Parts: sequence; structure tokens; C-alpha cells
Amino acid sequence: MEKSHLNWVSLVKYFFMINLVLFGKPGAGKGTQASFLKAQFNLIHISTGDLFRNHISNQTDLGKLAKSYMDQGDLVPDQVTIDMLENEVDQNPQAKGFIFDGFPRTEAQAEALDLFLAKKEMNISATIALEADDEILIERLLERGKSSGRTDDQDEDKIRNRFEEYNTKTAPLRAYYTNQNKFHSVNGIGTIEEITTRLTHLINSL
Ligand code: AP5
Ligand code: MG
Repeated sequence: MEKSHLNWVSLVKYFFMINLVLFGKPGAGKGTQASFLKAQFNLIHISTGDLFRNHISNQTDLGKLAKSYMDQGDLVPDQVTIDMLENEVDQNPQAKGFIFDGFPRTEAQAEALDLFLAKKEMNISATIALEADDEILIERLLERGKSSGRTDDQDEDKIRNRFEEYNTKTAPLRAYYTNQNKFHSVNGIGTIEEITTRLTHLINSL
């Protein structure tokens, strides 16, 4: 933050907004937990996966582009994802804070997010990873795939490709946020309520 920007409003915003990154493999419970945390902490929940699925439902050009990647379990290219995310943040100027769910997923996205937030005198408060074994996640996703209509949940090879994308492109962000002293891990196995309690304790201790 530049000195010229140090006024009370920006100081309050910088120190008291809570902006969380919910991090974790496909099926780790990011969306499930975000729906509780947003109410509890009065935050705006932005899931890039949900935004893409809305575009797909509305048959927009972005939706058509995203679908070609999502159906294979591949990540959508960085720049369209970053632009979409920034646009969503810009539409919520009164927000008390955000939960970023499924974003950032690459180092380029993480760097873009830091820059974008810094321009708004905002920053990431914490990145919280929900940890769970692949086999449990595959079970959860295949189960949801029976009714969700999500093609990327219906085929184990596609799910494994989503894990592979995570391992190669997203996992390095653990080091990125650890270097910023912002990385926290939470056990993502247990009942949904147990995990919400773990997350709540952690967020209250930040
Ligand atoms: P996205 O929609 O983000 O999917 P994902 O992260 O691959 O997986 P999920 O959203 O399914 O996992 P989740 O952690 O939210 O778990 P959930 O709470 O749903 O992304 C989809 C695609 O969009 C990507 O593959 C990519 O193509 C594209 N995309 C999105 N963001 C992008 C980005 N930033 N860059 C590039 N491309 C991007 O839970 C899963 C299931 O488990 C549910 O059925 C739930 O009920 C169940 N469950 C949850 N918690 C528990 C529990 N404790 N016990 C038992 N069951 C549980
Ligand atoms: Mg999700």
C-alpha cells in the first residue's frame, strides 16, 4: 500500500476486511463450506466454477469456451478466468469481504489477484486448504455425478485429470501463500458440521 493512500477508510478496509481463499482438490468441500462461512462472516462467495456453469447455462461465448475445457477436467485459460473474477469483485463494491472458491488455481492467477486487490487497498487475509484423500474425493464426486448433471463428475478418468491439473498447476500455490505467511491447512474429512467448526475456529483466530 502506498503512503499516499493511507487514510482512515483505506486503513480500516485493509485491516478489517476478511478475504479468504478456499483451497483444495476437487470435491474437498470448498463450495459446501463456503455456503456456511459466507453467512457466518457476512462475506460474498465467488466460485469461478459456479460462474462458468452459469455462463454455460446461459450459452454465452465464455460459457462455450469454458465448457470445452471443463468437460475434459482441464483448467480454463488464465486470462478469461482472471477477467471474469475481477468483474465479479467489481460488482460488489460494498462487500465486507470475499470467499474466493476455486480461484486462484495457477500462479498467474494468484499474482493477478494480489495485484488487483492491492489496487483496491485490499489483500488476502488467509488461504485455507481443505485436505482429503483422493479416494474419498472420487467417491464424493461420483456420487454427486449421479444427480448433478456435471459431466466432469461422471467419469473417473476426468476426475483423475482434475486431480492432475490440481497437482501440477494449483498445488504450487501452497508455497506461494506459505511464503506470504497466509497458508493454513484444515482436515477436510468428517461431517460437514465438524469441518465448518474447524474452519470457524481458524478464521476467528486470524
Ligand atoms: P469447480 O467448480 O471449482 O470444481 P472443483 O474444484 O473441481 O470441484 P468441486 O467444486 O466439485 O469441489 P468443492 O471443493 O467445491 O466440493 P463441494 O463442496 O462441491 O471447477 C470446475 C471446473 O471449472 C474446473 O475443472 C475448471 O475447468 C474450471 N475452473 C474453475 N475455476 C477455475 C480457475 N480458477 N481456473 C481455471 N479453470 C477453472 O463437495 C463435493 C461433493 O462432496 C458434494 O456432493 C458435497 O455434498 C460432498 N461433500 C462435501 N463435504 C462433505 C463431507 N464433509 N462429507 C461428505 N460429503 C461431503
Ligand atoms: Mg466447488
